[in-house]
Amino acid sequence: MKIKVGPSILACDFANLEAEIKRAKDAGADFLHVDVMDGHFVPNITIGPGVVAAIRKKTDLPIHAHLMIERPEDYIESFAKAGSDIISFHVEALGKTRNTRLKKANNIIKKIKKFNRRPAIALNPATPLAEIKGLLEKLDWVLIMSVNPGFGGQDFIPAVLEKIFELRNIYGGDIEVDGGINDITGKECVRKGANILAAGTYVFRASDMKEAIRRLKDDE
Ligand code: DX5
Ligand code: ZN
Repeated sequence: MKIKVGPSILACDFANLEAEIKRAKDAGADFLHVDVMDGHFVPNITIGPGVVAAIRKKTDLPIHAHLMIERPEDYIESFAKAGSDIISFHVEALGKTRNTRLKKANNIIKKIKKFNRRPAIALNPATPLAEIKGLLEKLDWVLIMSVNPGFGGQDFIPAVLEKIFELRNIYGGDIEVDGGINDITGKECVRKGANILAAGTYVFRASDMKEAIRRLKDDE
């Protein structure tokens, strides 16, 4: 299967954002993974729609806005209008009961599609697949977190490999894995059925970015 790589700009040099985006494109990035954090759903605060719009002007790479925020339904429009191509939101952010979560997820998916963007649902490491089973036929992209969201540079949690495998058995769409991805953990994810890798530290801090991305895509 062809593997796609989305460098997570959280690990880039933000003072030189334009140059960093260009560096990622020249090194073989398939899209940009943009981590949006609100200081509520996760303890950290990062990027908003204004920065996404600024990035949009500087690249033709697809932008994946990974929303690690509460009330994602309130921000779909601004991230879509800012030029995100893929918008992912967390099932854990959608309320206390499973019914509420499913209902909200369905509405958010509809909203993202209305703006002609691709919806994706994201799952924390501890969240079971059962949470999203009722949604899979409406989605062609699932984001499996392999660290607890909030920060770059954390260690990969191997327990998620089983989840990737289980998901691939029931789902033919794109499976992206995010957190602690390097040439070793990335390969394990691909072996279990993932076809998209988000990687921050491993890509942006590599001495040779092109080689780092090549290794992630190499499925030998
Ligand atoms: C974590 C973010 C990840 C993170 C990945 O909350 O969603 O996308 O930037 O960074 P690395 O690859 O350094 O683990
Ligand atoms: Zn992310």
